[in-house]
Amino acid sequence: MASSMNTSKTIPVENIRLFQKKIFSFYEKNRRDLPWRKTTDPYKILLSELMLQQTQVKRVVLYYEKWIKKWPTIDALASASLPEVLQMWMGLGYNSRAVNLHKTVRKIVAQFGCDVIEAMKQYKELPGIGRYTSQAVQIFSTNADLVTVDTNIRRIFISEFALPITITDMELWGIAETCLPRGKSRDWHNALMDYGALHLTAQKTGIKPKTQQSRFEGSDRQVRAKILRCLLQKSMSLSEMETTFKLEQGRLQPILKKMIHENIIEKRNTTYQLKEV
Ligand code: ADE
Repeated sequence: MASSMNTSKTIPVENIRLFQKKIFSFYEKNRRDLPWRKTTDPYKILLSELMLQQTQVKRVVLYYEKWIKKWPTIDALASASLPEVLQMWMGLGYNSRAVNLHKTVRKIVAQFGCDVIEAMKQYKELPGIGRYTSQAVQIFSTNADLVTVDTNIRRIFISEFALPITITDMELWGIAETCLPRGKSRDWHNALMDYGALHLTAQKTGIKPKTQQSRFEGSDRQVRAKILRCLLQKSMSLSEMETTFKLEQGRLQPILKKMIHENIIEKRNTTYQLKEV
């Protein structure tokens, strides 16, 4: 018998059973003891998932533990100011994740009565939250029979079932549904992530992520990081920043304008400062 799915290929049920057995037996022997696996608190899991995007597990562990000590609840984080949140995030990179986290958390408190799971079901209203994060938070918090596909999980499916590298997300998520062992979603996704990170690596398979991390050196993202780092210390004028950063003429202003528009910084007279929201 073959299970049906939204793709021209079908995977025999026996293959799926053997695949599940392989992943779970790897997990039994090799599971990683990660701090966010010791909790089912959706706030903490949301935080870990946002930190883990584009950042290595080892680095996230330190930040996650420090963060939880400072802001143990979603209420506590929602009460913190944006500069405080940015200060804690410094060094993790991709600072827009911190800005989005702050906005999202405030929205969850104000509009969803602190109910993170309910908010995840309506993730399109939340800045910086996509389908991957929404489903991951629900899976790891409640063990709901849902699936999620990140770069590691995508690579595993492509390799295991010899799928074309051009496979669409819709088809991949369909295959993920077919493979999900019902009632075991939390363990299953943890197991897949460990298998992908520790065993079936990108290097081993040659399967590249769909989107490569863009260059940081010389990017707007780097300029934004420099601006934040400086403004966390003190407010500065445009000419001060131009001298400090040694950038070409006209490079800074559009970036500053965008950051004002995003409610991250503000201009008072001639100086720029972080916005105390
Ligand atoms: N990458 C993204 N989410 C993860 C998780 N929960 N555990 C390990 N790596 C991850």
